[in-house]
Amino acid sequence: MKATELLKSTRSEEIALLDQLDLKRLPRHVAIIMDGNGRWAERRHLPRIAGHRAGVKVARETIETCARLKVPALTLYAFSLENWRRPRAEIDFLMRLLREYLKRELPSIHKNNIQLLVIGRSAQLPEAVRHDIEKAMRLTAQNTGMKLIVALNYGGRAELVDAFNAILDNVRLNGLSAFHADEETISNNLYTAGLPDPDLLIRTSGEMRVSNFLLWQIAYAELYITEALWPDFSREKLLEAFVNFQQRERRYGGLGVSDGRRNGRHGGAR
Ligand code: IPE
Ligand code: IPE
Ligand code: MG
Repeated sequence: MKATELLKSTRSEEIALLDQLDLKRLPRHVAIIMDGNGRWAERRHLPRIAGHRAGVKVARETIETCARLKVPALTLYAFSLENWRRPRAEIDFLMRLLREYLKRELPSIHKNNIQLLVIGRSAQLPEAVRHDIEKAMRLTAQNTGMKLIVALNYGGRAELVDAFNAILDNVRLNGLSAFHADEETISNNLYTAGLPDPDLLIRTSGEMRVSNFLLWQIAYAELYITEALWPDFSREKLLEAFVNFQQRERRYGGLGVSDGRRNGRHGGAR
C-alpha cells in the first residue's frame, strides 16, 4: 500500500511528500504540543479565542490524516495543569470548545474506529466536561483503530507523582516490603500505560521547551519544532514533519548505521 492511496490528495505539494513517505516506518506514536493559537489570533487583531477555534479545525484535520495513514497512536496536548493560570473567561471558553468538539465529532471518531482516551487529572475538571469525556471513552472503548489520546488538565510531573503514589498504595496494600520498582513498573503506572512511547514530538509556534508534557515518555522521542502557529499547521506541514522524522537516524546511545560501525539493535527512524 502506498501513502497516496491512503490519503487522496489533489495538491501537488502533498502528493510529493506522500510519495516520499515509507508507511512501514511511520512513528508508532505522535505527540503534539498544539501551541500558538493566541499569537495566530493576535496577528489578525482577533480575540485569542478565535485562535482556539481555528486550532480545533487543525486538530480535526490532523486526527484524520494520522488515522488514514494508520499511525497507531496520536496524543494531543489540549490543556495543561499550568493553563489554569489563564483568565477565567479563556479557560471557560476552552472547556466549552472541547465539549462542542466532542459533541460534533464523536460520531465520526467512532465511525472511523478511533479509540478516544483522555489523560490528566480529570477529577479536577468541570462536571459537565468529565461527563462528556467519560461518555466518549465508553463509546469508543472497543474500537481497534488509532488511539487518540487527549491530554487534558495534564502535567508530566503530576503524572509521575500519581504513578509513584499508585505504586506505593499497591506496595502497602499487599505488604510487599521487599518490592523494588524498575522502569517497567513506572511505565505501567503512568496514564499512558500500555501505549508505546512517542517516537515523534511535534511542537508548533517555535517555542523550544516541553512545557511539562510526557516527561518520562519522551526520553528518546525525536523532536520536531516548527515556527508555524498551530492554526497554520496544515496537512502539508504534518507530512513534512513525518518525512523529516524518517530522515533521522535514531541511535539510542549506540553507534549509527550510516557510518558503517554497526551497533546491531537499532537504526533508521524507528
Ligand atoms: C495553545 O495556544 C492552546 C492552549 C495552550 C490551550 P496558546 O493559547 O498557548 O497560544 P499562544 O502560545 O498564546 O500563542
Ligand atoms: C503548552 O502550551 C500546553 C498546551 C499546548 C495545552 P502553553 O502555551 O501552555 O505553554 P507555555 O506556557 O508556552 O510553556
Ligand atoms: Mg502557548
